Amino acid sequence: MSHFDKIVDRKGTSCFKWDTVEEGVYSFTIADSDYEVPKEVKEALLKRVEHGIFGYTVVPNSYYEAVINWCMKRYGFSIEKDDIIIMNKVLESISLLINLYTKEGDKIVINPPVYPPFFALTEGNKRVLSSNHLINDNEHYSLDLKDLENKFKEGAKMYILCNPHNPVGKIYTKAEIEAIVRLCNKYDVFLVSDEIHSDLIIYGHEFTSVGKFFHLHDKIAVCISPSKTFNIAGLRIANLVLKNEEIKANVRKHLERYKIGGANLLSLLACETAYNKCEYWVIEQQKHLFKNYEFARDYLNKEVPYLKFANPHSTYLLWINLQYLNKTSEQIIKELKEYKLAVNTGCDYCKDYDGYIRFNLACPQSILNEGLKRLAKYLKDQE
Ligand SMILES: Cc1ncc(COP(=O)(O)O)c(C=O)c1O
Repeated sequence: MSHFDKIVDRKGTSCFKWDTVEEGVYSFTIADSDYEVPKEVKEALLKRVEHGIFGYTVVPNSYYEAVINWCMKRYGFSIEKDDIIIMNKVLESISLLINLYTKEGDKIVINPPVYPPFFALTEGNKRVLSSNHLINDNEHYSLDLKDLENKFKEGAKMYILCNPHNPVGKIYTKAEIEAIVRLCNKYDVFLVSDEIHSDLIIYGHEFTSVGKFFHLHDKIAVCISPSKTFNIAGLRIANLVLKNEEIKANVRKHLERYKIGGANLLSLLACETAYNKCEYWVIEQQKHLFKNYEFARDYLNKEVPYLKFANPHSTYLLWINLQYLNKTSEQIIKELKEYKLAVNTGCDYCKDYDGYIRFNLACPQSILNEGLKRLAKYLKDQE
């Protein structure tokens, strides 16, 4: 049996996905996966834990080399040690950049439907949301570049791009990325690219990092992380990649001022080991992901042929349109509980998407099968 089809009981491990649902409920919620980390990562952590002392830590050069090599190998752009700022979380990086490079009342552009904390970070910091909605053509999502330019013309100061896009799974094309960077440069917009899902590519698709276009614009930040890729979100680690010297100095100054950022010795070790030794594991995971996506697509097409959902290029997320039920996402979530199924509410990603749900495919296929059965049963009972 493949590593990714092995069932590991996560109940009772302070696990958000499985310990926040009632007994018997199958959970396909928060964006982590149900797989054990690669054996190399587990062994390195066990060895380090065995040592028994966890005092203050210095980041080894080998850590930076691992990140530099990963960026070149996986994303095709070149960075140096000084370009990497180690953070606890991608959201911590975005929050810091919002606070440093925009002020209260400034407009920040995002692409709804999108990862809910982008709304919270913008409005919670008293910035103004400027929504460049993705165009939804029968669950095929595309970027409205013309509207994006209009938003920039209206004076937006920052653009938070989610590439690959959570929840619709879109990967922007190279041409789109270049056009975005050029527009940011033209209108002097700070571009923050959240690329946390960029290792989870579904077969046949190709990812282009904004990092390939640092030369076209000064105000660029690329947020990468091993957390989704290797299922280590609980260890907390992310890398903020910057090229502009002034921005790097300013970010470092503020990290020092507030004594934030950095990561713990176990997450540094996990990231370095994974990047150095586990590329093969990422490729295996991509195959599993593709298999799970095909399985879900074929199952749903057969059992509930009228159902519409996005065809993800990346991520392990299935974005499902249940608006035909004429119910709110919240109502649907509540009713699904009766069917012992937990998923995410679509309206959190944009109010216009009330009635959608997000279903996490990152699990063994037998678990997925059970979840899909419950979903199909619920939908058939609504007919
Ligand atoms: C697009 C995106 N960005 C950021 C995060 C959170 O990352 P972190 O835990 O490193 O803040 C997630 C988690 O689901 C995500 O999907």
